[in-house]
Amino acid sequence: MAKPVSIEVWNPNGKYRVVSTKPMPGTRWINLLIEQDCRVEICTQKKTILSVEDIIALIGDKCDGVIGQLTEDWGEALFSALRRAGGTAFSNMAVGYNNVDVNAANKYGVAVGNTPGVLTETTAELAASLSLAAARRIVEADEFMRAGLYEGWLPHLFVGNLLKGQTVGVIGAGRIGSAYARMMVEGFKMNLIYYDLYQSTRLEKFVTAYAEFLKSTGEKPVTWKRAASMDEVLREADVISLHPVLDKTTFHLINKETLSRMKKEAILVNCSRGPVIDEVALVEHLKENPMFRVGLDVFEDEPYMKPGLADMKNAIVVPHIASASKWTREGMATLAALNVLGKIKGYPIWSDPNKVEPFLNENVRPPAASPSIVNAKVLGLPVSKL
Ligand code: GLV
Repeated sequence: MAKPVSIEVWNPNGKYRVVSTKPMPGTRWINLLIEQDCRVEICTQKKTILSVEDIIALIGDKCDGVIGQLTEDWGEALFSALRRAGGTAFSNMAVGYNNVDVNAANKYGVAVGNTPGVLTETTAELAASLSLAAARRIVEADEFMRAGLYEGWLPHLFVGNLLKGQTVGVIGAGRIGSAYARMMVEGFKMNLIYYDLYQSTRLEKFVTAYAEFLKSTGEKPVTWKRAASMDEVLREADVISLHPVLDKTTFHLINKETLSRMKKEAILVNCSRGPVIDEVALVEHLKENPMFRVGLDVFEDEPYMKPGLADMKNAIVVPHIASASKWTREGMATLAALNVLGKIKGYPIWSDPNKVEPFLNENVRPPAASPSIVNAKVLGLPVSKL
């Protein structure tokens, strides 16, 4: 029998019981649920990652929907428990849902929500921050300063790379990859090479138009190229940012062999999912190539780092904060809550999960729809006409 888990309750007499496995930023999401007759229970247990048993205890005997987190293992055990409690709604507070066994959710008729559309720029900004921090050795320099080692300006002190005129490589040019590419091209006048199974026409048009603008002002135009293979990006780019989804085909996409194809002084950034990189191979590569730098937001065995990574001066490591801007995190909480609410109320599914502005405008009531349900088709849920 699992131990009881501590909770905070809002609107105790609400008709529908909605559980959130974590306190989430902002209060709008709570208010939106309360207004629609939900009793909201928020887990306040001081434990970063809840176990399956903890969540089963939270679900209890009667639960209409759960808002969960990407650290939790949403599979057979949890979806069957939710279904037994009468629930048919779950939402991850994340765009990625590799922690969710969607087939198991399908089996129990549970809708699985996620939160795209609100993370794009925030995540791209962190990838850009890591790129800059690595290029200009900001973390090393900060540590040096705090250690009281600065004795005065020196010609060789923390010399890094100038991004202007170098090539940025993007692997996976979907929404986040494209936003990152635009930031690096426009912000730092980098040339672009990208690899994606799909052509990113919008991105290509953007770089072409920016190149025209630079030409018109007498500056050297930027260029773009869609690579025929990932290897081409690895060989040619000076800064490479990874933006694929994690699945069988992208597990250890970056490994000993692919690392060896990259330039010795390249910068590698990962704000996607940790297992896209073979972290053991990466540590070896960082040891052997001191000029190679990496900026990591995600790790193979999160929350742990592979042995040796934390000692590498040429690695910048941050704790999975790519979506951590106030606006984005509050928006994610709102979208996750509305996914669950929509399913409980029998609302249709929003027709474009990436165009979620109407749900985020605090001054108006959100549309009567679930913003993004990944298994809507399989469950036969109707699409909104709005
Ligand atoms: C964060 O990593 C997310 O997938 O939302």
